[in-house]
Amino acid sequence: MAVANPTELQQHVRTGEDADDDERRTPAEGSGEAACQHGADGAPYISSSIDYVIDPKTGFTNVGLRRMMLRGRHEAGIDLVAPSDLRAIYEASAAQGKRLPVSFVVGAHPIDHVAAVMRLPVDELGIVASLRDAPLPVVKCVTNDIRVPADAEYVLEGYLDERGHVEAEGPYGEFLGYYGAVKRNPVFHLTAITKRKDALFQTSTIGGRTMGRTDTAQLSALRTEVMIWRTLESAVREPVNVYATTSSGGAFNVRVALRQRVPGEARNAIATCMGALANCKNVFVVDPDIDIFSDEQMDWALATRFQPDRDLIVMSNMRTLPLDPSLTPGSRVGSKAGYDLTWPFGQGNKIENRVPAAPTFEGKRFASVEAAIADGPKFFEELMTAVGSRDGREVVREIDALRARRGIDRDGEGRYLFKA
Ligand SMILES: Cc1cc2nc3c(=O)[nH]c(=O)nc-3n(C[C@H](O)[C@H](O)[C@H](O)COP(=O)(O)O)c2cc1C
Repeated sequence: MAVANPTELQQHVRTGEDADDDERRTPAEGSGEAACQHGADGAPYISSSIDYVIDPKTGFTNVGLRRMMLRGRHEAGIDLVAPSDLRAIYEASAAQGKRLPVSFVVGAHPIDHVAAVMRLPVDELGIVASLRDAPLPVVKCVTNDIRVPADAEYVLEGYLDERGHVEAEGPYGEFLGYYGAVKRNPVFHLTAITKRKDALFQTSTIGGRTMGRTDTAQLSALRTEVMIWRTLESAVREPVNVYATTSSGGAFNVRVALRQRVPGEARNAIATCMGALANCKNVFVVDPDIDIFSDEQMDWALATRFQPDRDLIVMSNMRTLPLDPSLTPGSRVGSKAGYDLTWPFGQGNKIENRVPAAPTFEGKRFASVEAAIADGPKFFEELMTAVGSRDGREVVREIDALRARRGIDRDGEGRYLFKA
């Protein structure tokens, strides 16, 4: 990992009293973006801020995405309520009465946002570099020892004070499509702002009725899918596809296509998903022939492959996301549901479970319909193929003649065969 020296990122540096929250709003206003994203937000928010922190215990850099609520010229609130590595690092340092240095990057390479939502026990600067698939030039911040990508647009340097979750933060239009209420959260103190000469101020979209198309839901979905795929691989071995729907915020509703090797794996997959992430709430498991990215096919599978009293699993009192507005008020636990939309094991190939499709007329040729049936039971399409029939008329006539002459029967699937 290369360490760049004073670069374009630090072309403009303001420290101490000189550093000012207005600095962060000006470019947003200048480019015509509303700094206040939603009508009931508690204050203007920076929505695209990627935090870099050195974990004093490991020396690793932790990278996350955390919004910032402007609270004054040198202060901002951050939301640190949900379980995260930063929350654990911060609470350990606050318990020792120590400030935690942090630098927020605003305006980053798009893939850095993906790295930031990952929660892995490694030096996450390495994840940023790996996802970029290139060496990562970094710059040491001016007022702390944290290194941030050298191509950042803005860096807001400072620290989280040691007082813990003390200040009101919120409301904010959240990633479940509703406002998150006011919470008690830690306070960020600004010590410096560095930026490029013509820095771009970045904003991420988050709440509202069209959540599926927000930046946040797309990023959350990717994270959910990676986490769930990894756990499914060890729990059930043959996941085929995983999709965390973006319209559910990218985590609450998860679809899994699975090739079951033995009976029961669909249920194992449901239990695995429910346990893998606190905010995975409804799990839908289908056979591999269903396209989990198609709402139409999922609706069809729910209608036709699901018996509620047999295939619905409900788990109560699970750890969940407190932000879920459907939770019983005051409750810290919630319920989860699993929908097993797979065919009962081994029954997927019955004629009643097969999906009609246009005939393909592929198969062996025979001298006659009689020769084809003598070869073994055949579907009508196979008999048409056998004699190169255009519309099946002559096949019907020949079967009728054979019925009189040799006796014709049908098997359970509808194939034609000679009577024993
Ligand atoms: C656009 C966006 C904004 C986010 N904002 C926050 C936030 O304000 N607070 C929070 O706790 N998590 C937030 N998250 C989720 C965290 O980034 C995610 O949990 C990440 O794994 C945290 O990293 P860490 O566990 O390495 O600290 C956000 C995610 C996205 C995609």
